[in-house]
Amino acid sequence: MCGIIGIASYKDISKEILDSLKKLEYRGYDSAGISTINNGEIVENKCAGKVSDLEKLIKKTSLSGNIGIGHVRWATHGAPNQANAHPHSSEEVSVVHNGIIENSAIIKKELIDKGHIFKSQTDTEVVTHLITENLKKMNYLESVFATLNKLEGSFALGIIFKKFNNLIVGARRGSPLAVGYTDKEKYIGSDSYALNSMTKEVSYLDDGDVCVLTKDKIEFFDKNKKKIEKKIHKLANDEDVYSKGNFKDFMSKEISEQPEVIKKCINEYLDKIRKEINIVNFPVDPKKITKVNLIACGTAYHACAVGKYWFEEFTNIDVSVDVASEFRYRNNKIKTNELYIFVSQSGETADTIAALDFCKKKGAKTCAIINVTESSLSRLADLVLPIHVGPEVGVASTKAFTGQILVLLLFILKIARIRNEIKEEEYLNIIKDLENIHSNVALILNNKKIIEDLAVDFIDIKGSMFLGRGLSYPIALEGALKFKELTYLHAEGYPAGEMKHGPLALVENGMPVIVIAPKDRFYEKTISNMQEVIARGGKILLISDHADEVATSENIWSEIRIPKIHKFLSPFLSNIPLQLLAYYVALKKGNDIDKPRNLAKSVTVE
Ligand code: AGP
Repeated sequence: MCGIIGIASYKDISKEILDSLKKLEYRGYDSAGISTINNGEIVENKCAGKVSDLEKLIKKTSLSGNIGIGHVRWATHGAPNQANAHPHSSEEVSVVHNGIIENSAIIKKELIDKGHIFKSQTDTEVVTHLITENLKKMNYLESVFATLNKLEGSFALGIIFKKFNNLIVGARRGSPLAVGYTDKEKYIGSDSYALNSMTKEVSYLDDGDVCVLTKDKIEFFDKNKKKIEKKIHKLANDEDVYSKGNFKDFMSKEISEQPEVIKKCINEYLDKIRKEINIVNFPVDPKKITKVNLIACGTAYHACAVGKYWFEEFTNIDVSVDVASEFRYRNNKIKTNELYIFVSQSGETADTIAALDFCKKKGAKTCAIINVTESSLSRLADLVLPIHVGPEVGVASTKAFTGQILVLLLFILKIARIRNEIKEEEYLNIIKDLENIHSNVALILNNKKIIEDLAVDFIDIKGSMFLGRGLSYPIALEGALKFKELTYLHAEGYPAGEMKHGPLALVENGMPVIVIAPKDRFYEKTISNMQEVIARGGKILLISDHADEVATSENIWSEIRIPKIHKFLSPFLSNIPLQLLAYYVALKKGNDIDKPRNLAKSVTVE
């Protein structure tokens, strides 16, 4: 999952292209590069590291030109180094790519047999050499189409040509690609976020589309080379939401925004007078739904796992939860009265998109719970439910998780009500507590100092475990994921009742074990599982709304108290201390909070 950008202008584009690459860095930050056409030649600047490293390089080498392409990389093929950084150029062509060319090895061999010399280990470089080869007997557009027909896999491409030095060609299959318009400049970019500082007018390419940009116009072609028109979307004027404000990083800003975004999301969906949830246009009549399938990746998958407990608690609907990368390759039996719900912050996660595509092609009805509404997934789903949490820039997802479980809960309560499967009193009690949940989250955030002080004891640990039961099991999974991706320390989320079936062997003196035990029907069982860990020397950090009684009696290392709340709403609260713990441990370790190593914000390759 990389980020690509291209600009065709009447003036020098070097500053603009560097600024856009900085905005795209959440998509990959292990190497960066830019190619421009200058004095009739392709000039390539690229290096390992961040865009700030590329900037230093360019200061020494100089960069100019009215036309150029740029790239930030998340390595798939070949180590993150200068040679494998994009763009990949020949005498005639320079290419940036996001995606994976699955048949690159075969094509590479054919081209080497034809005398082509490869400079990198990447799959992408075959595109450069294929186009160069085709240009010997075709014009630029035919050479691109001939190349695309040979490629297997996914791609978003940006291509410039030495001989056709006033244009950029873009192509999409599987990986997202947008274009942008102003009077005197035209752009291509991996998403609207990369373009919104330069234009508020964008169009999105669909799979198989090719576009040709000059500074004056953009032409679109479908996979059969037929000219097509594209709808122009207007982007919201929301520049400032992309700034850190007074926070030192996006993650701490996004954690602190949770009370506000919860309020905003509830205002969007709940009619506070009639206590009605405003979700309509269900793709399957709620009364007829026989099964619900929840599908996602990473943190979004954990939100689905919380949703499964709520579906089972409030409705009689059968429910399954799947990670998208597994679901998409299983021999799934798709049924029309079943609803397929896809959850994603970015809306661009390749595995989740492919899973939806699979279901749609089999006639399934789909719903997407999304943060980025200008995304591929939201353009594909039958019903789109935005989570209204605003842009999430930090790679480690925080407020989006809270928004995802909130919209899932509102969706489930609405279905339960339509099916008369939830008692009025229970429904109103949950809604009442939900309307106040933002203040409980704020309470925990106001006491974050306790967690900051605890964090120092985690810096040098070998590993840790996060335990929970029922609704707290997915929260244990989510807490462990945050801890891993931010601190680079091993952590495992586990159903507390499963410890004695193996993982208890991991527990030794002083090993931190985080136990999530709100006062619900799993409380006593979780506490006895916690005692099994204490008996083996585990160092317990207990997160509960009932900590006071237990803490004193069970020689627990430390406790974090969360406010008492409706037993089915504990995930909204018990997850916050886990976000903060991962944050503070990473901070104390000096890790890059917003751009953890080896990761990227939206995973656009499988
Ligand atoms: C979470 O912190 C990670 N960034 C990652 O697991 C993420 O949740 C996953 O890649 C899914 O992304 P999506 O919600 O944008 O589809």
